[in-house]
Amino acid sequence: MRRLKVRREIAIGGCAVSESNEPVHTRLAELAAPYARSQVVDLGCGAGPTLRAVSKLAPEVSLVGIDRSEESLRRARIALTKHSGPTTEIVADLSDPLPCADASADVVLSYNTIECLPDPHRLLLEVARVLRPGGRAIMAHVDFDSMVVAGAGTDLDRRVCHAFADDVQGWMDHADGRMGRKLGMLLARSPLTLVSVEPLLAWSTEFSGHAKERIGQIRKALLSAARHGRASVDPAEVEAWFAAVCEADRLGGFFFSELAFIAVAERPSEEQLISEDTRPARDGRVSRRDGNQASGRSAAA
Ligand SMILES: C[S@@+](CC[C@H](N)C(=O)[O-])C[C@H]1O[C@@H](n2cnc3c(N)ncnc32)[C@H](O)[C@@H]1O
Repeated sequence: MRRLKVRREIAIGGCAVSESNEPVHTRLAELAAPYARSQVVDLGCGAGPTLRAVSKLAPEVSLVGIDRSEESLRRARIALTKHSGPTTEIVADLSDPLPCADASADVVLSYNTIECLPDPHRLLLEVARVLRPGGRAIMAHVDFDSMVVAGAGTDLDRRVCHAFADDVQGWMDHADGRMGRKLGMLLARSPLTLVSVEPLLAWSTEFSGHAKERIGQIRKALLSAARHGRASVDPAEVEAWFAAVCEADRLGGFFFSELAFIAVAERPSEEQLISEDTRPARDGRVSRRDGNQASGRSAAA
């Protein structure tokens, strides 16, 4: 079969074609920058890609990366060496109280970390404590359960993707492959006020860049799961799937997509809290919002 020729471009509607995973970090930084006056905190910062993106838009602000992996924090420190403002890397477990003073942060960010916490609501209580009044929480997560790979047959593609979404990898305390779709609801149930939820789609018709990296992660995670006796797909099937993905790419039939959600919430200012207190009591229900009402934009560029 002849290889299909595919032009790579930003799709109409603002979906991101992903060479690396940069679009999501850039979007997080765009959302953070208008509020980043003195301090931005990244929970589960890893090697620092989000903080590096924030640094480009807010070069003077104090950047704080928190992670329990010392090796990741070492890489984050290197990634932030060109930042003009102060940078701090803190080794801490996000299941514990955050190592930050009350009302000390303008923005608290997190990408692809909150699924690892058995009690994400507890973390959001801490985020509300740490944010200054009027400060913003920007929580983002891939919804791994809705990831799409077209490479092998339908059944194997589905089973592999779902096994990855459900797998509690060795470095995780917990996994929730449906965290992306739950972020808005979690923030709406926290002491913060939900401002927006927006989708960001990464997709590729070529087995390269971020798509290749993610498929490599899936293969590695599921082979490791099998070695540790927690696999729902056996190693021979994982390798057959991987070979089929490579073959699909060779024949021009490969497709990959993953959908991230970015939920933004605000710690009410003192004035907002006072006016809420003087308003007639409501029925306590969280108001429902659809994508258009909740989001200032329907999709990220
Ligand atoms: C998937 S990585 C994402 C890293 C980074 N946000 C990024 O976008 O590349 C998840 C990160 O969360 C950290 N992590 C997971 N559970 C944690 C916990 N309980 N406390 C602190 N860090 C945690 C891991 O060490 C890892 O660096």
